[in-house]
Amino acid sequence: MKRITIAIDGYSSCGKSTLAKALAIKLQYSFIDTGAMYRAVTLYLFEHKLIDTEGGIDEKNAIKALSKIYLSFIYNPSLKYAETYLNGENVEKKIRDIIISNSVSKVSAIKEVRTKLVSLQQKMGKEKGVVLDGRDIGTTVFPEAELKLFMTADEKIRIQRRLDEYTSKGEYITEDEVRKNISKRDYEDTHRKESPLLKANDAIILDNSDLDKQQQLDYVMRLINDLQLIK
Ligand code: DC
Repeated sequence: MKRITIAIDGYSSCGKSTLAKALAIKLQYSFIDTGAMYRAVTLYLFEHKLIDTEGGIDEKNAIKALSKIYLSFIYNPSLKYAETYLNGENVEKKIRDIIISNSVSKVSAIKEVRTKLVSLQQKMGKEKGVVLDGRDIGTTVFPEAELKLFMTADEKIRIQRRLDEYTSKGEYITEDEVRKNISKRDYEDTHRKESPLLKANDAIILDNSDLDKQQQLDYVMRLINDLQLIK
């Protein structure tokens, strides 16, 4: 059976990773969470005091520090996806903290950060049989991907899903904090100079406001079959 590249881009908190993980399990593909990479770089900069409490970045030294950042991904069989490691430490939990979410868009706008991470993503996905989720996969990382999805969902639903995610982890965060974070990131991600979030011309829009996890997976599997992408 033909193995393809699936690129999933879209706004924050639209369920991109949820869909990407489910597709990867169904097709026995690898899942590459590119947002986790930008988050891990942001965490490193925080821990090395290159981002201050107001979110200001010491860009010159941040760029210098990039050579000291080593990212790796180790498959966790109980979760059925690879977790992100920063210089040998599993940082899956730390990188989802709201502090990281509030600064990651600024870090991801730095050209040198993107160059490093895009090249890593291209290396990791070159054998195909991969599902990647992010903001620039269909436009920059794998413009030749056989299937490109651009995800969107009603803002209220996105906020609620993110709130539920925090609650399920036993973390408390206000609705207002989530709303501000989502709209700030969407603005910054779509307005940055370096490969902004943009729908690729050949991407299929998937609005999952009224779809649950199973329905969106079924929809994409039908699409793959109808378009005969893996025949
Ligand atoms: O998917 P996520 O919310 O974990 O991504 C975190 C941030 O990383 C997002 O706000 C923008 C940035 N990002 C990016 O610029 N390019 C990608 N391919 C993935 C994420």
